[in-house]
Amino acid sequence: MLIDTFGRVATDLRVSLTDRCNLRCTYCMPEEGLQWLAKPDLLTDDEIVRLIRIAVTHLGITEVRFTGGEPLLRPGLVGIVEQCAALRPRPRMSLTTNGIGLARTAQALKAAGLDRVNVSLDTLRPEVFKTLTRRDRHKDVVEGMAAAREAGLTPVKINTVLMPGLNADEAPDLLAWALEHDYELRFIEQMPLDAQHGWKRDGMITAGDILASLRTRFELTEEGQEARGAAPAERWLVDGGPATVGVIASVTRPFCRACDRTRLTADGQVRTCLFATEESDLRSALRSGAPDEEIARLWKVAMWGKKAGSGLDDPSFLQPDRPMSAIGG
Ligand code: GTP
Ligand code: 5AD
Ligand code: SF4
Repeated sequence: MLIDTFGRVATDLRVSLTDRCNLRCTYCMPEEGLQWLAKPDLLTDDEIVRLIRIAVTHLGITEVRFTGGEPLLRPGLVGIVEQCAALRPRPRMSLTTNGIGLARTAQALKAAGLDRVNVSLDTLRPEVFKTLTRRDRHKDVVEGMAAAREAGLTPVKINTVLMPGLNADEAPDLLAWALEHDYELRFIEQMPLDAQHGWKRDGMITAGDILASLRTRFELTEEGQEARGAAPAERWLVDGGPATVGVIASVTRPFCRACDRTRLTADGQVRTCLFATEESDLRSALRSGAPDEEIARLWKVAMWGKKAGSGLDDPSFLQPDRPMSAIGG
């Protein structure tokens, strides 16, 4: 079991498969991209599967989420999913992606054993998409989402970050569109995890702003804590339900007390929190021939260092060195 000193138990493992991305979202990374991890530093497919196996068989992990950067850029993704689906107990598996290339791979991912996907989409307007991501790929994302739904990678959830002056006015339109296409929409408060360190609290659209904007067109009723569990999204029933809309209010209403997560970076480091400033190296242990039991022990020890919360409200808050794109969201 992965338990921290506050008694929280991690059952959800988020695995970053690559730090690379084919978009350049302005709230994530600069136009020129970042200094990517070097190939020899990345875990191999076999190393990733081994760590997931240890997490599932020795440490009580029941949910595995593949993230990036952009995880569809990892050539071995389908094989990794297939091998994880053969583990016993079989973990539930999901993918968080920007959707580019999903139209091509959705069927294979489903066949390999992936359960569901979350796709990032911040706007319905191709021109705004281009400004925001610096790439003209709106159509690919929308097609990828439809392919995922058709392949049964459901529920397909949409992640949306709103920014003033760009897409902040789109919340009701995005919700109407998501309802029409049977996607579960969630709005995310922007967090200080951008590579440029340009985040400002004043420049952020808050959960309160988002709800007020949605209420101009929809009636929202809170779904309640019981249905939420350890999920980061607070959900509202739309016009009486059953459809819902979510808000991930990491900044204004943090959910750290219910956190059930542990993270693995593409270069084999355990992170106990999105905002952790320290990591624990499993790759060295793997590559020096450590047995499963030793790796499991190192992972447990890593979790003892998990902080109570993100520390976002502390005057001494420091943004981690590793940006969102290399942590995996
Ligand atoms: P499901 O609701 O189970 O599909 O998962 P999810 O919402 O955790 O997954 P997803 O990868 O789509 O993440 C959505 C947003 O939640 C991203 O912006 C993440 O950065 C954010 N998020 C995920 N995990 C955490 C966390 O541990 N803490 C905080 N503050 N935000 C998180
Ligand atoms: N704050 C909040 N969400 C972010 N994402 C990327 N960067 C940030 C940030 N700084 C979102 C992406 C994607 C999800 C995994 O994280 O839009 O949907
Ligand atoms: Fe890529 Fe996601 Fe960062 Fe956009 S937010 S550049 S899709 S990693």
